[in-house]
Amino acid sequence: MKFLVLNGPNINMLSIREPDIYGKQDYPTLVKMIEKHAGEIGAEVECFQSNSEGALIDKIQEAYFKKVDGIVFNPAAYTHTSIALHDALKAVSIPTVEVHISDVSKREKFRQISYISSCSVKTIAGHGLAGYLEAMDFLKEYLSK
Ligand code: DQA
Repeated sequence: MKFLVLNGPNINMLSIREPDIYGKQDYPTLVKMIEKHAGEIGAEVECFQSNSEGALIDKIQEAYFKKVDGIVFNPAAYTHTSIALHDALKAVSIPTVEVHISDVSKREKFRQISYISSCSVKTIAGHGLAGYLEAMDFLKEYLSK
């Protein structure tokens, strides 16, 4: 089973960026957690982070040609703005779990819109970095059905 874990803008700033909201652990720590968990559940994983919408779209398209089985995606602020990322997920039809570190439902009004939810098989929000691991577990179960 091959997973792609995609992170959008400012996720590389974890630990520096609003630690009260996003926590004190940094992005390399998140990558290590994800790689360790993948090993434990017998999955292959690639992690990719970009601050650029186009690079995220390219990575989603590449996932189709590399036959990735599932995507874990925190589109960060692009969640609330990007029809292009929505269209990319629709184009490849790879089961995707949307992840948010914070509980976006309890935050500003502009965070209440997600262009990604409607093309995701599940959304996990507010579980901190553990949400990424839960998403991998969910995808493993979902793909074995
Ligand atoms: C986020 C929530 C988004 O609203 C925000 O723009 C982010 C991170 C989260 O993980 O909680 O950058 O996706």
